[in-house]
Amino acid sequence: MSGKVHSKELKSDKIPKHVAIIMDGNGRWAEQHGLDRIFGHREGVEAVRSVVEGAGEMGIQYLTLYAFSTENWNRPREEVDALMGLLVHAIVAETENLHKNNVSLRTIGDIASLPEQVQQKLAGAIAKTAENSGLRLVLALSYSGRWEMVEAAKRMADELKNDKIDKSSINEELIGKYLPTFGLPDPELLIRTGGEFRVSNFLLWQIAYTELYFTQKLWPDYRKDDLFEAVNDFQKRERRFGKTSEQIRI
Ligand code: FPP
Repeated sequence: MSGKVHSKELKSDKIPKHVAIIMDGNGRWAEQHGLDRIFGHREGVEAVRSVVEGAGEMGIQYLTLYAFSTENWNRPREEVDALMGLLVHAIVAETENLHKNNVSLRTIGDIASLPEQVQQKLAGAIAKTAENSGLRLVLALSYSGRWEMVEAAKRMADELKNDKIDKSSINEELIGKYLPTFGLPDPELLIRTGGEFRVSNFLLWQIAYTELYFTQKLWPDYRKDDLFEAVNDFQKRERRFGKTSEQIRI
């Protein structure tokens, strides 16, 4: 294992513009500490704070966090309620700090399906931080990659029906415009904590050429140093986008 990586050791011209994270392992962390699952989520907020700070220090422009998936609605009612409560609490507690650090907040997902109070707090935090020009923090809430593709298909079907678009104009770029994530660049790096090797319905369209990084660390134990290590690993990779090594080196 390499030693600790400092943000200053990273190549400033090779910082990924967009990093996405699947924050996994809260439940197992809680179990290991003999606690109820919700304490794992609560501790996970600490990890979010540290990683947002680290992303800002590095000059990452977009950080997308998978905070609640479409499938997470199937968890026990108490856990879903506790997660929603935690979300409200974290937004209220952190908005001022985000604002001071020039971070702007945005969400992706089926926000209308969230409890009214969560929607209100989110809208307030988004409005307050809208003009900030630093890190763009994107919370994926009630989100899944397939959900957004279905959304895009519905929007495009409406436009086709109303003759706003023509079948011949449908290409990758146009589909991208109908996705709810429109405006977000594709992530260069996707990190998953918690030791599982899957993408769990996250940003399926956008990760076509994304570098994947998996770590055993459980999310509540994850800190900005771990993010620096992931970016350091990313910087050593050769991204070929289907081309050969020789073509890339030209
Ligand atoms: C996955 O761990 C984690 C979640 C489903 C929720 C993530 C939420 C937070 C970190 C807190 C709130 C976030 C913000 C942005 C303030 P898991 O429960 O699936 O863990 P397990 O795989 O060990 O059971």
